[in-house]
Amino acid sequence: MTGVAVLLLDAAGPESGAIIRAAASRGHRVYAAAAPAEFAAYSGELKALLTGRVLTDFTRPAQAVEEIAAHARRHGIGAVLTVNEYLTELAALVCAELGLPGNDPARVHAARNKAAMAQALAAAGVRTPHTRLIRDDRELQATLDEVGLPCVIKPVAGAGSCGVTVAASPAAAAAAAEAARTAGRPYGGEDGAHILVQAYAPGTEYSVESVTQAGTTTHLAVTRKLVTGGARRVETGHSLPAHLPAPVEAAVHREVHAAIHAVGIHDGASHTEVIVDATGECTVIEIAARLAAGQIGILIQHALGIDIWAALLDVALGRPAALTPTTHRHATVRFLTSPYAGRLQSFSGLPTQGPGVPFVRWRAPLGSQVLQPGANAHRLGSFVVTGEGAAEVEERAVALLQQVRIHVDPHTSNPVRPAR
Ligand SMILES: Nc1ncnc2c1ncn2[C@@H]1O[C@H](COP(=O)(O)OP(=O)(O)OP(=O)(O)O)[C@@H](O)[C@H]1O
Ligand SMILES: [Mg+2]
Repeated sequence: MTGVAVLLLDAAGPESGAIIRAAASRGHRVYAAAAPAEFAAYSGELKALLTGRVLTDFTRPAQAVEEIAAHARRHGIGAVLTVNEYLTELAALVCAELGLPGNDPARVHAARNKAAMAQALAAAGVRTPHTRLIRDDRELQATLDEVGLPCVIKPVAGAGSCGVTVAASPAAAAAAAEAARTAGRPYGGEDGAHILVQAYAPGTEYSVESVTQAGTTTHLAVTRKLVTGGARRVETGHSLPAHLPAPVEAAVHREVHAAIHAVGIHDGASHTEVIVDATGECTVIEIAARLAAGQIGILIQHALGIDIWAALLDVALGRPAALTPTTHRHATVRFLTSPYAGRLQSFSGLPTQGPGVPFVRWRAPLGSQVLQPGANAHRLGSFVVTGEGAAEVEERAVALLQQVRIHVDPHTSNPVRPAR
């Protein structure tokens, strides 16, 4: 049963680490495809878990597919997967080239490029915000008349909330357009001159975590997203499972199911972000052909008893994946951020890992520059709380968060201010 080699496109990051550990514990050899500079930055511990690697240039997809497929053939690789948002399209191309379970290479572009996504979702009858692709400020002004205010301005193929702004006025929209144009584009990506203007969807935000195997989709959980208000919507936490009224849950599942098929997800995880309005109508904001980030995999593991990492390996290997919950608990993650930019002086009061707190992570070194949260990358740390009931778990998470003290020197003559 075991022993088949597995290849990950980009092996860095916590989700990749969990998949690598799950693969190693089942006796799989694990290979990585990585950009040379990124591979050089892998920790010694990560490199030690890898049997081999192929270094390639992800900015040249045709060449990368060729090199990765050749490496895969040489090493008898029987599964290819990624949790890196920017590499999901490449993963589909490599899987198709090798005849391995994966997503439809002709359609998964629509799970990456939000202009193509809006078109594919609308064509499939999925409720999604009216979206316009624009190039310059002249088009912006004309589009604002059409889309209305507030609107959302975002990069065409961004992730991690980078360069996404909810704009409430024409002046704010012009600044937001510039922020979207100049947002980072890992691996080159789409033309930075084009940006998206999208109608604002009011309501409560959720994501749906799903796994599709051989075209059949299982929705594992609806996740409640805790998000800041204002111009920059930054996630402050996630909780699952969210229990929606049955008709609302049915509407959410219906839209998400249609979205998954519209963007060609055939074998793999998906993370679909939706907004449910006051009348229970569900709008799909975006869909990604990968497992959710932000510790949602850990929440699934603790709340539902599903080993999502093993399941994703099984899907990639074409083996039946175990996707039925074995527990019915609740789990939440809270992200730790700084309220203003400056130099990190100290922090204290982090929860201790133990019963009901299975995960605590701090990633900002003392003395480093920290930013007011404007994107997911600005998180300083996070912790997960689990337990039997939602109320008890959420209360504990709030209480633990209140004990965390983050001291940041804001680069002024002011003394160091304690920040929560
Ligand atoms: N059309 C919209 N209506 C209302 N809110 C929106 C809309 N589009 C985006 N947002 C808000 O902005 C956030 C980030 O937008 P979006 O998900 O498109 O960006 P992203 O870079 O893909 O983020 P991530 O990778 O963190 O999911 C959303 O989670 C939501 O809070
Ligand atoms: Mg999003």
